[in-house]
Amino acid sequence: MMKKKRFLFSLLIAGFLASTLSCNFVLEEDEATAWNTAKPLKDIYNYNFLMGNVISPGDLGTVRFSILKRHYNSATAENDMKPDAIAPGSKPADGWPWPYRYTQTDNKIDKIVDAVNAAGMKMHGHTLIWHRQTPSWLTTGNRETVLANLEKYVTDVTTYFEGRVISWDVVNEAMRDGLSASDAGNWRSCLRTDSPWYRAIGSDYIEKAFLAARKADPKAILFYNDYNLNSNTGNGKPEAVFNMVKDINTRYPNVEGRPLIDGIGMQSHHHLNTTPQSVEVSIKSFIKLGVKIAISEMDIMASKSDDNNLTNEWNEDAAQRQAEKYAAMFRIFKNHAGYISRVTFWGLDDGKSWRASSHPTLLDKNYGLKPAFRAVAKPDNY
Ligand code: XIL
Repeated sequence: MMKKKRFLFSLLIAGFLASTLSCNFVLEEDEATAWNTAKPLKDIYNYNFLMGNVISPGDLGTVRFSILKRHYNSATAENDMKPDAIAPGSKPADGWPWPYRYTQTDNKIDKIVDAVNAAGMKMHGHTLIWHRQTPSWLTTGNRETVLANLEKYVTDVTTYFEGRVISWDVVNEAMRDGLSASDAGNWRSCLRTDSPWYRAIGSDYIEKAFLAARKADPKAILFYNDYNLNSNTGNGKPEAVFNMVKDINTRYPNVEGRPLIDGIGMQSHHHLNTTPQSVEVSIKSFIKLGVKIAISEMDIMASKSDDNNLTNEWNEDAAQRQAEKYAAMFRIFKNHAGYISRVTFWGLDDGKSWRASSHPTLLDKNYGLKPAFRAVAKPDNY
């Protein structure tokens, strides 16, 4: 009797080992070797959220556009929809022949938006009102003049792209750095005073921008977008943003049928020391506001550079740690997928990333799959 039991037990163990080994074998067989054989990321996350990446004019008609099209179903112009790309550099002598740039023959942004839509992807608009990459004449003058400029700019641009751009970062990076938790109670006092919009108009430039955008294109989903929104001890920024969105949506609960601010974009420029837990705390907190969440500019810096406090070089260990970090983040995104509408990466590959020296993206500079790519494709295996 004892012997029979032992025999059965050994059979069980043998069967288990065989199935695990064969399972690993299948997985390895299954491991894609290149971007064009790997299962599209957009299909993996089809039932969770849109998957996005950046696009620039030079990508059109190249392998970069093919990569974008295979793995992503959403695109954000890395620079070409910013005010300095759309508005003229100086005030046109004949007033405002809007949309000014659009009538020019080298109209890059129209080509991008049309190619993205023709490929069946969704275009996200980045960004309308920001303290950077904005021609100074737009923000020069007294409150009345600059407010009129803001309203005209937002109205004209959102109207122009109506139906071709599904969502907008209406205001970008309005909160200043170095906020403490106690600052956050009064969100208006947390706004960066180095914004020329703030200086000319005052703190209500935020709601004015959202009101103009909602009125011009009621269907577009309107985001407030910012960086450092993960809840690290001592970082008051996520709470200041929480309070701002809560206050504005309480005061404007029904503009064209819904609260004024539809969502919060968490830029998510992370590095190896970012804790996934600090990201989840913020996601859970923003969910309580009843708004959508977009992970809007994700990258994870994995080696030292001027932009981070890392000291390590780029090597296999860094690549592995980066992959684990991406996997942990995506496990969190999946757990809250009902509230996350889009995850956009800020860079297709390490060659052209804005922070290329820290190797922050999913593909190496030759478009080879990094461990980070495999981690995003199968986060539960990490
Ligand atoms: C960056 C672009 O990636 C760079 O090419 C450009 O030189 C500067 O802007 N937050 C944002 C993005 O909202 O617009 C920034 O993009 C990165 C930080």
